[in-house]
Amino acid sequence: MPFTESIHMVNRKVQTLDEFTIQQMRDFPHATGELASLLRDIGLASKRVNVEVNKAGLVDILGDAGTVNVQGEDVKKLDIYANNQLMGVLKHGISCAGIGSEELDDFIAFDDPVSNNSKYVCLFDPLDGSGNIDVNVSIGTIFSIFRRVTPLGTPVTKEDFLQPGINQVAAGYVVYGSSTMLVYGTRRGVNGFTLDQAIGEFTLSNPNITCPDHGRIYSVNHGFFYQYDERVQQYITACQKKDATNGGPYTQRYIGSMVADLHRNLIKGGIFMYPGTKDKPNGKLRLLYECNPFAFIIEVAGGKATNGVERILDIQPTHLHQRSPLFAGSRGMMEELETFLNK
Ligand code: AHG
Ligand code: MN
Ligand code: MN
Repeated sequence: MPFTESIHMVNRKVQTLDEFTIQQMRDFPHATGELASLLRDIGLASKRVNVEVNKAGLVDILGDAGTVNVQGEDVKKLDIYANNQLMGVLKHGISCAGIGSEELDDFIAFDDPVSNNSKYVCLFDPLDGSGNIDVNVSIGTIFSIFRRVTPLGTPVTKEDFLQPGINQVAAGYVVYGSSTMLVYGTRRGVNGFTLDQAIGEFTLSNPNITCPDHGRIYSVNHGFFYQYDERVQQYITACQKKDATNGGPYTQRYIGSMVADLHRNLIKGGIFMYPGTKDKPNGKLRLLYECNPFAFIIEVAGGKATNGVERILDIQPTHLHQRSPLFAGSRGMMEELETFLNK
């Protein structure tokens, strides 16, 4: 077979995460490639986490962990492992000046000559839905990327991390599910990449994701129903009363890993709620590591995200670990929710 013929037979329909981000960058003449390299670093860390997640059930029968246990030390929890992987790749990469993480008390300024000259900071929830690890249910990683506001060449400060979500340059998540997928969004769109385990590459599988304007799924923890504000209770009740005459019937789905719940609702259309409760008026989810990145992705995909009073992306954070109620999903369903919340 002539050489040129064999070259055309290679399957070039597949585009890897790297190829995609580099191609996107070429549309911007002044782009430095730092964002592409940051996304590659996050992809690398998540592939390592994926390997560990896949053998989570084996942890007690694998030699290594067993030996550690015999010596009386704790097996490292998977969320600490995930945190360390992300911290490691971002510190050694060339694009990130510092990080904030759900697993760290305070932000970390990497503070070395390369990092101080990097223009991005990254915030993440290294392992979301960690309560689901032991029962083999989908979990995830969530990340949020900001351009620093302090001058290049200096160590980053808290100011770089306490920015409203609207300033995000990119945000994304990895879902470790029936397949492993990385989804990220920039202002230009949201794209999904499935991990091809055979070659260890994230490959473009869901180009240009948009969130349907209407869906039939609502996701909320019903156990706290009587803890929610009356208007939220009324909306949930209205969801349950939907039938064919008013856009229903709705179905309720709640996994307990927001990555999995929101990923499904993003693709199929739906609404996700983690409202405040009587005991915890700000709910459970963290603004910087969970609400902001999803609000950004959902909005870019055409949906809406609020805390019940204002747009999530407009909130000026005051501290790193602050919590916020979250309502996010299909535009039409969010607008219907708002008619209840504005009562
Ligand atoms: P994390 O594992 O990072 O602490 O987050 C779990 C979160 C979120 O993913 C999920 O939607 C929510 O907790 C579930 O909480 P409830 O069990 O209170 O409904
Ligand atoms: Mn979480
Ligand atoms: Mn977590």
